Amino acid sequence: KKVVLAYSGGLDTSIILKWLQVTYNCEVVTFTADLGQGEELEPARKKAEMLGIKDIFIEDLREEFVKDYVFPMFRANTVYEGQYLLGTSIARPLIAKRQIEIAAETGADAVCHGATGKGNDQVRFELGYYALNPGIKVIAPWREWDLHSRTDLINFAEQHQIPVPKDKRGESPFSVDANLLHTSSEGKALEDPWVAAEEYVYARTDDPVTQAPNEPEYIEVEFEKGDAVAINGVSLSPAMLLTKLNELGKKHGIGRLDLLENRFVGMKSRGIYETPGGTILLAAHRGIEQITLDKGAMHLKDEIMPKYAEVLYNGFWFSPEREMMQALIDKSQEFVAGTVRLMLYKGSANVVGRKSPYSLYSMEHVTFEEDSVYDQKDAAGFIKLNALRLKLLKRRGQH
Ligand code: ARG
Ligand code: SIN
Repeated sequence: KKVVLAYSGGLDTSIILKWLQVTYNCEVVTFTADLGQGEELEPARKKAEMLGIKDIFIEDLREEFVKDYVFPMFRANTVYEGQYLLGTSIARPLIAKRQIEIAAETGADAVCHGATGKGNDQVRFELGYYALNPGIKVIAPWREWDLHSRTDLINFAEQHQIPVPKDKRGESPFSVDANLLHTSSEGKALEDPWVAAEEYVYARTDDPVTQAPNEPEYIEVEFEKGDAVAINGVSLSPAMLLTKLNELGKKHGIGRLDLLENRFVGMKSRGIYETPGGTILLAAHRGIEQITLDKGAMHLKDEIMPKYAEVLYNGFWFSPEREMMQALIDKSQEFVAGTVRLMLYKGSANVVGRKSPYSLYSMEHVTFEEDSVYDQKDAAGFIKLNALRLKLLKRRGQH
């Protein structure tokens, strides 16, 4: 009878909105979130009103997104398949959570999203919905309707007086998802994995080769308990900090990625990602961990990271295994505090200095000069015992 739609205000979700009204004859509640995708939200309100919506939710979730989703993920240095910083994956659980909360507030019995039936996002939205409300009804129009081509969609829009902007008449060259952490582009013009993406695909980074400054820029990022809290001595809220890193990353062309990845639903897909601030943040976080984390702690969390990344990628944010791993990761971050200096230069962000009040780095122990704390003779026995089994292996069969 009532459905909460994740509504961007764009043409496709406006078509979904109308389709829900005519197919299910139900009341639609729209939910539009600002996750830092860089689009005005007020037009979405206007459009929803025009389509007869009474309950319109428009929310700025940028701080919650970075503080409670992006930062916890970065504590683990999370990358999927070695490279993807999970910019889309990490946003879906928050959208799902708010939809379920709004459904409860407005007495809705269903939720609806605009992801296709071939991708990961449908899985992420729906696993989120069911984890938070097992009884919720889920509507996924792209899996249900018979609008199979662009022409079908445009015709449907015109039949129902939904304005179709000129640039939306034709096929869009690829599909885009954006938020404060990243922009991803995939599909259509990008489907041939041998053909390089053209410069116009990149929406939020300047070309590192032709546009980035010829001079490097040095910045300092300060951490507390594993989270970045200040840049160049200026304290910033989580979303403002990531916004600032995005500006710096854009200017230096940092965080571009052309990746062919394994989707949860089975096929491989090729995507172009831009994660300017996140790429700097990952390098900086690794830098502060280098000087503050114990070796055993670091190696254990590094072992767990690919598992944690896969759980997030597959949409299991609200799961016991993610929460268990999060507890382990968060525990490791207790003393991950201090300052990292980075050099930003033509597409790269490199750590060039780190310091911490909780440093485990001992100049006294590591020095090449004479020291009084480390007895080099101890190393001989250490090596001998470690070599024992290697010697036994080599001798086997030799007599
Ligand atoms: N392949 C990425 C992921 O699964 C991005 C998906 C959304 N991107 C898009 N252009 N619709 O996280
Ligand atoms: C979609 O199919 O809606 C986007 C791609 C994905 O979810 O992986």
